[in-house]
Amino acid sequence: MSSEPSTPMRVVSGIQPTGKPHLGNYLGAIVNYVALQDEAHAAGGDCFIFLADLHALSQPHSPADLTAATREMVATLVACGVDPAKTVLFNQAQVPAHAELQWLLNGTARMGWLNRMTQWKDKAGKNREGASVALFTYPVLQAADVLLYQATHVPVGEDQKQHLELARDIAQKFNNDFCREDAPLFTLPEPYIPPAAARIMSLRDGTAKMSKSDPSEMSRISLTDNPDTIMRKIKKAKTDPEPLPSEEAGLEGRAEALNLVTIYSALSGKSVGEVLADHGGQGFGVFKPALGELLIETLGPINARFAELSQDEEALDAILARGAAQARERGRPTLDATYEALGLVRG
Ligand code: TYM
Repeated sequence: MSSEPSTPMRVVSGIQPTGKPHLGNYLGAIVNYVALQDEAHAAGGDCFIFLADLHALSQPHSPADLTAATREMVATLVACGVDPAKTVLFNQAQVPAHAELQWLLNGTARMGWLNRMTQWKDKAGKNREGASVALFTYPVLQAADVLLYQATHVPVGEDQKQHLELARDIAQKFNNDFCREDAPLFTLPEPYIPPAAARIMSLRDGTAKMSKSDPSEMSRISLTDNPDTIMRKIKKAKTDPEPLPSEEAGLEGRAEALNLVTIYSALSGKSVGEVLADHGGQGFGVFKPALGELLIETLGPINARFAELSQDEEALDAILARGAAQARERGRPTLDATYEALGLVRG
């Protein structure tokens, strides 16, 4: 995918360093961080990938776990192929412009827009009064994250689509309210959602998304699971008693079967139709081990690199420090222009 010739390609995305990254994060987002990083690099564009540690404050958290998970997440991303020589890789906490721009955009974002966010409704549940303010204003920080770097492409899973639409609305309203028509300040970001793996589902419930916050470890494959664990989780994954159909239509109403076939398809690069042409008629006693092997083949090398990288805390901190210095530099023009557009006087 490429943007208009006159717009340099600017890829921006973030991931929360809470819990262990799982197969949904990998197939829904991380694979595309790497693909778009390489595409941007080849086209003379830029790629910014950050750990959304400020977003992690929206839910109860343990400070010590957050520090450890932040380093683990850098090691994971690099193990998956995010290359600090091609990508500006950093954590938000070291780039104050994210929080500053959020405040500047709070004047533009509307309460009604935030009230409609499904993630806010899901996560706050019935206890809205007891939810943190950060959980409510979280999407404005997410808008600041991408608008600060004038993102053109934002690789994310399906669950982030609504937040990206909000970022576009905020950008559009700010441009309308504070900029000349021929000189808009913010680029409208486009979500880049993988067609095949937009929403990887729980291994225990084909109607719930695979998630770090699911209390059951058996619901997800973590990127750092060893081969035995991977095979055990896949063999125990919930399915129905029917064999696989030979055509896609036969997966209708079979959410768990569809999820396993989708995972196989995303990992193998084959379409769902092709996977079914190869495996149609097989029972899960045969298909699950084949899927387990494919997962082990993909995640094995990532695991080995992760084990090596995570030994060296200093090297991981140095990657973040270098990335943060670059990000502070690259975000400054947009932040300055935002202060100016709003008429704020600075020395
Ligand atoms: P987070 O940390 O929950 O997830 C990181 C990325 O993984 C994708 N993802 C999935 N994709 C497919 N199937 C799944 N089951 C699945 N679970 C997660 C998410 O869509 C996401 O792309 N708010 C964001 C982080 C963020 C961000 C940003 C993203 C902060 N600022 C700016 C993009 C741009 C989040 O909590 O993602």
